[in-house]
Amino acid sequence: MRTTQLRARHGLLAAGLTVAAILAGGAVVAAPAHSAPGTLAAAAQSSGRYFGTAIATSRMTDPTYLGIAGREFDMVTPENEMKLDVTQPARDRFDFTAGDRIVAWARENGTQVRGHTLLWHSGQPGWLANLSGAELRAAMLHHVTQVVDHYRGQVYAWDVVNEAFADGTGARRSSNFQRTGDDWIEAAFRAARSADPGAKLCYNDYHIEDWTQAKTRAVYAMVKDFTERGVPIDCVGFQSHFDRTTPVPASYRTTLESFAALGVDVQVTELDIEGSGATQAADYARAVGACLAVERCTGITVWGVRDSDSWRPGATPLLFDAAGAPKAAYDAVLAALVAAGPVDPSPTPTPTPTPTPTPTPTLTPTPTPTATAPAGVCTADYRVVSRRHHAFTAVVRVVNVGADLDDWVVGWSFPGRQRVVAAWGATVTQDGDQVTARSADEVARLTSGSSLTFGIRGTSRGGNAVPAGLTLNGTPCTDRS
Ligand code: XIL
Repeated sequence: MRTTQLRARHGLLAAGLTVAAILAGGAVVAAPAHSAPGTLAAAAQSSGRYFGTAIATSRMTDPTYLGIAGREFDMVTPENEMKLDVTQPARDRFDFTAGDRIVAWARENGTQVRGHTLLWHSGQPGWLANLSGAELRAAMLHHVTQVVDHYRGQVYAWDVVNEAFADGTGARRSSNFQRTGDDWIEAAFRAARSADPGAKLCYNDYHIEDWTQAKTRAVYAMVKDFTERGVPIDCVGFQSHFDRTTPVPASYRTTLESFAALGVDVQVTELDIEGSGATQAADYARAVGACLAVERCTGITVWGVRDSDSWRPGATPLLFDAAGAPKAAYDAVLAALVAAGPVDPSPTPTPTPTPTPTPTPTLTPTPTPTATAPAGVCTADYRVVSRRHHAFTAVVRVVNVGADLDDWVVGWSFPGRQRVVAAWGATVTQDGDQVTARSADEVARLTSGSSLTFGIRGTSRGGNAVPAGLTLNGTPCTDRS
């Protein structure tokens, strides 16, 4: 707990310094690669989470690729190097060369490793595909034991079983593993636990992000059963490959929350979202926001570094373009991570009204604090989290330290020629210099002591001066920027 808080504050301070350095046009002092200020990793750490990427040995001679991977991420998943066809290409001949190379690189860069994956219907070598029955079951468990044992102490979490459920139904996927009996999954988890009691053990799948889907509910039922019967499972990985036909679902947060309520961690393990520009940025903000809203969502991994590194490059689904430049989606993710962190490390205590002694009790009605009451006092924090050319991203956080409000409106006047072009977490409009942000939800209640956070992307031709005098329902807030 203490460590998390300390790391969190360090991350926050680091992010703040970068903003200050950028605004002042000053040089940014080098910091350890994985926690360099203003990076995805540092921002995620400030909220007690990791931010990872898939990494491939085939690209590890490319300095641009390695530069981004080492700077921005604090978790890596070997894209193919720990799969069965690579680690045991012939029966009982194990080959850890490629996986070891990634683990060594991770260690040098202060980065953790997610092991992916021990048992999967795909990526099987011919020798294994030809086995069946008890012989196959023994070979599967031997594989799990040998690989987990080899990487003991070096892997944060294992995707023990990948994609064991069928699309569209609640049934198990038909596979050679499945034909050895329904209990193959729990047998694999038990074998992995024995081989490395320190690694977290995850079930990983795709199309389980939408709570309304039968496949999601089927995986949920299995995890519930495992936790009830003491089968060693620690986490569930949601691959999260989104495209036009499978967009980020509205129920994503509900799904993550529901699984977490079973007592397991949840992680976004292979995030990539087809699209481009502001639409893709908003989709990324929603996906990342779903994880950040769930305490036991412990980290997010994107499935590759640049669009050109993706397994589906035509979808341009990642955070960096082919030239290695961060995209609008990167800014949106960074802003969402910063917003989730402890932006207000020393919160102002809610002022306790001093009771005025009334000598003679009278029947004067006491006004009840409701939406019709005068807007309360507030504190506001406006933070520019990234700036490139004329574009910038900022996060606004307002704490209501007054009475409960049934509705909220935040306003400010932009100095210089700054214009809002997109927003998430609020509906933001601009009229001249005057900016108005309203809740994007139908229920916009802001109770006393609670806070609201939203992000904006904007353009600026006259600097990024922080607006003075943010207001909540027309009342000026105390500036905590
Ligand atoms: C993909 C890799 O990205 C490709 O390079 C490879 O050819 C096939 O596998 N779900 C998973 C990942 O769990 O292992 C897959 O990775 C993508 C879908």
